[in-house]
Amino acid sequence: MKIAVYPGTFDPITNGHIDVLERACRIFDKVIVTVAKNASKSPLLSTQERFDLVTEAVAHLSNAEVDTFEGLIVEYAKSQGASALVRGLRAVSDFEYEFQMGLMNRKLENDLITVFLMPNEKYTYLNSSIVRELARLHSDYKDFVPENVHAYLQKRFSNE
Ligand code: COA
Repeated sequence: MKIAVYPGTFDPITNGHIDVLERACRIFDKVIVTVAKNASKSPLLSTQERFDLVTEAVAHLSNAEVDTFEGLIVEYAKSQGASALVRGLRAVSDFEYEFQMGLMNRKLENDLITVFLMPNEKYTYLNSSIVRELARLHSDYKDFVPENVHAYLQKRFSNE
């Protein structure tokens, strides 16, 4: 059974993440989407909120599972029996950071292969910060996130 881990902060999960995940689910038998507790990034949403939103948003994918992790991603992947890490590459600007992270993870765990997948080009400019900003400013971001994420953020920012 080929297992892959797709890690990220998912603050919040966007349609770009879902696009990458759907592609990964076509390649691997099981894909574990794992939400980084990530104290260094000070996420807007708590780990539980991010986990719950991801869980609802990926429910249509029968071979996707959702989890959380902290510490080294390579250690987490090993503990899950994964042979690959999935990362999305949206544009050339992602490359340097992803390349560095990929090489470092390979240095730490040679058997774990990083697989880069390109989401649909309509998500090239999309990231979670933009979604948070648009939500905070009550702008339109419906097309960028799963319905449950949109509903959650609308409620969250309704009084601000
Ligand atoms: N579509 C839209 N946006 C996307 C995207 C896609 N397909 N892929 C990434 N993004 C965005 C995210 O929304 C996020 O946006 P933001 O910075 O505006 O919030 C940004 O790109 C980076 O996102 P993400 O994929 O969540 O990566 P990350 O850099 O936050 O997470 C970890 C990286 C958590 C996986 C990594 O730091 C890690 O593995 N940490 C564990 C510790 C460790 O092992 N360190 C050693 C690594 S060498």
